[in-house]
Amino acid sequence: MATMPNSALPAGDPRPDLAQIYGPVQQDLDRTDRLFEEALATDNQFVLDMVRYLGETQGKKVRAALCLLSYRACLAGAAGMDSESYRQSLVTAEAVELIHNATLVHDDVIDDSDTRRGRKTLNYRWGNEVTVLMGDFIFARVFGLLARHVSPEVIQVISVATDRLCEGEIQEVRARFMVTQNEAEYYDIIGKKTAALMAVACEAGAMLAGAEDGVRSALRRYGEGVGVAFQVADDLLDLTAPEARLGKPNGHDIKEGKFTLPLLHALKACGQGERAEVQEVLLKPELAPHDVEFVMGFIRRHGGIAHARNRAAELVREAKAEISALPESSAKAGLLGLADYIIAREF
Ligand code: FPP
Ligand code: MG
Repeated sequence: MATMPNSALPAGDPRPDLAQIYGPVQQDLDRTDRLFEEALATDNQFVLDMVRYLGETQGKKVRAALCLLSYRACLAGAAGMDSESYRQSLVTAEAVELIHNATLVHDDVIDDSDTRRGRKTLNYRWGNEVTVLMGDFIFARVFGLLARHVSPEVIQVISVATDRLCEGEIQEVRARFMVTQNEAEYYDIIGKKTAALMAVACEAGAMLAGAEDGVRSALRRYGEGVGVAFQVADDLLDLTAPEARLGKPNGHDIKEGKFTLPLLHALKACGQGERAEVQEVLLKPELAPHDVEFVMGFIRRHGGIAHARNRAAELVREAKAEISALPESSAKAGLLGLADYIIAREF
């Protein structure tokens, strides 16, 4: 339970324990793993090799956990495990997780990343063309899985969230190297590319539990807040996490022309002369390591890291307040803990 010096967690706070947070839904999460195989089953050996490779590094399944915890929190923990809604919650949880995986497969092509979750990416191993198609394959199979098992109302909200996700990513690509970008545009992008899927994971869990509209909206807002905080924390880690754990040099986003909250804050806080000087560096066709170092020093000097840490913590506090009216249960405690965990991550 050591303090995480590089995370967005306020200094002195202990790191939440993921196994404890996932406790109320661990059994459910284990069941969703089997759906991964069902959804992506194929007798094409080449595709199967990629599916298996992907399946070996599934990550923490945060989105699936959000869905399952939301479902159980709406039922105050008392989910009947032979009910139809329970079965649908498992499928929905796996579906949002698979959508997330498909987007990362595409994202690594877009960002030209060679490492994810400590392993070589699909694009590194199999090349961009096959990898893009693999992302499409997963995406197509997700909607097949949903169509077979889940009610149209839930599929509808997931499909809207997926639109937003694509829009957010398009906006982000278009915003690259735009030095005039502001914080509002940044929040708009991450609200779509990251928070929309987390929000719908929670909302769908509530819908399947038959929650009333007010509870459903509260859970959606909780997921949105947690999602925005998650991306702010992710962007912070690009600047602060130990490079060995990040799997790439610090400041990769700066090099790629991705202007995240710490930098945008520093650009707003500094004087006009310094802003012009930094903008000139940011617009260089190729940034050398000393350029990246220079920009990172600038961010620190103008409190960009501290600002982003404070914002992430504030977003998490607000997200937790959204669900204060839910009845006490281990699942609700899991949602509260997961919100804290999200800004305590170290990589
Ligand atoms: C990671 O961001 C990327 C996302 C959260 C969204 C990516 C969305 C798409 C590629 C479009 C949608 C695709 C489909 C199949 C629907 P990041 O690059 O900041 O995070 P990272 O550090 O984990 O790479
Ligand atoms: Mg990326």
